Amino acid sequence: MGLGPLMSDVHTVVLAAGKGTRLLSATAKVLHRVAGVPMIEHVLGTAASLHPRSTTVVVGHQAEKVKALLAGRAGLTFVLQEPQLGTGHALLSAEAALRGAAGMMVLLSGDVPLLSVGTLKSFVDRHRSSGAAATVMTAVVDDPRGYGRIVRSANEIAQIVEERDASTAEKEIREINSGIYAFALDGLFDALRSIAAINAQREYYLPDLVAIYRQRGRGVETMRVANLDEIRGINSRAELADVSRIMRQQKNAELMASGVTIEDPLTTYIDGSVEIAADSVIHPGVSIEGRTTIGAGCEIHSGVRIIDSRIGDRVTIFNHTVMTDATIESDAQIGPFAHLRPEARIGEHAQVGNFVELKNTVLGAGSKSRHLTYLGDAVIGQNVNVGAGTITCNYDGQRKHRTTIEDGAFIGSDTQLVAPVTVGKRAYVGSGTTVREDVPAGALAVSAGRQRNIEGWAEKKVKRQKEKLKRTKTKGKK
Ligand code: UD1
Ligand code: CA
Repeated sequence: MGLGPLMSDVHTVVLAAGKGTRLLSATAKVLHRVAGVPMIEHVLGTAASLHPRSTTVVVGHQAEKVKALLAGRAGLTFVLQEPQLGTGHALLSAEAALRGAAGMMVLLSGDVPLLSVGTLKSFVDRHRSSGAAATVMTAVVDDPRGYGRIVRSANEIAQIVEERDASTAEKEIREINSGIYAFALDGLFDALRSIAAINAQREYYLPDLVAIYRQRGRGVETMRVANLDEIRGINSRAELADVSRIMRQQKNAELMASGVTIEDPLTTYIDGSVEIAADSVIHPGVSIEGRTTIGAGCEIHSGVRIIDSRIGDRVTIFNHTVMTDATIESDAQIGPFAHLRPEARIGEHAQVGNFVELKNTVLGAGSKSRHLTYLGDAVIGQNVNVGAGTITCNYDGQRKHRTTIEDGAFIGSDTQLVAPVTVGKRAYVGSGTTVREDVPAGALAVSAGRQRNIEGWAEKKVKRQKEKLKRTKTKGKK
């Protein structure tokens, strides 16, 4: 059943104006990252699965930053809640944005990022089929601390009491409010205006709407979710870590189910946006982030961090390699201890070894740079050997310049290539050469002076030292 057109009477509102006081942070709560992605983005991704007619984001604390983060997302309406007087007040500030809208509205909390698409869809179905004025998503948990409690009378929801306002008996209630609701839009905003800020925090509590509706005889339903993790809210750094861990476990489980070996899921950090093909092996202590794709049959060793990179098939990345925005073709080998900076492009069967740094550089197919080297702004052809300790001097203090090394060239160890400069096809550069001028194809470039040998020098040195020692001793006796 296609959900698109059927869902078109659904409007969504996401509350994201709060400061997140309990995080003790200079950054607004909804901007904190959960498994690598700002938590508000997780929530908006789930909201989008309903193909809503409209999505309104209530912003307040650091509104400009939140808006800037979400600027690339289509179809969002932002409303400003200033000052932030509570969740009821937050929803009321969306009134103008929803003027004239009919049907139902689903309210999501910007700090509850684990909600699954499946649960949200059955919640919407439940609300629709019951015809209630409001439906509250709830859960029965072992430790209800910090959440609003669902107070029932004759089994029906009567009201929601916040932790701070709860009596000792109410604190014992283990059914909690998830902060996710569905509302009939009809009469909603008028009812919100009846909420009073008479409570421990002097805030306008959205959950108070439940008691107001009950008093007015409007139907309020609940839906209990079975998987408690889905409705975990983030209020503290500890909860931020808990929710991140759960999200990462989900990602790891998905990858393993699709044929990826993860040796130690507990120490493997893979963002939701990453794709990895079957038969790749991920060793412990690896981070794979952002828009990274990894092909089949790769092996990623411990301590590697990969960000926004594209990796082909059968690539081996040895320990403690770091790469950002790099492209690696199939069958290449990288590391250990390599650093691939943005726009590094490694060809098929190429090899990059320890303490080699590449930036904005193409290393052609079958080429090797295995030890202690900096290659920046360079275009290196195929089957080139770059010796240990090679450095492209790409920066003259003002501008960056390009180094070109053509196919089959051999760069001896301890070479400096002062850009702009070109080494032609199959040319050789002798060890210790400072290349300041182009090297023609097939030529040998050497810049160091002729070597001089001083015969018997070592023996003379020992003799000199002994004489010096004798002199100081006799001086001491006087
Ligand atoms: C809220 C519920 C509680 C529920 C819990 C579930 C209230 C009063 N309590 O408590 O019953 O168990 O969520 O996670 O609603 N926000 C605004 N403007 C404001 C205040 C908050 O936009 O003026 C936003 C926050 O950014 C956040 C969300 O609303 O995304 C929830 O606010 P928060 O302060 O975290 O509520 P809780 O105390 O967790
Ligand atoms: Ca919360």
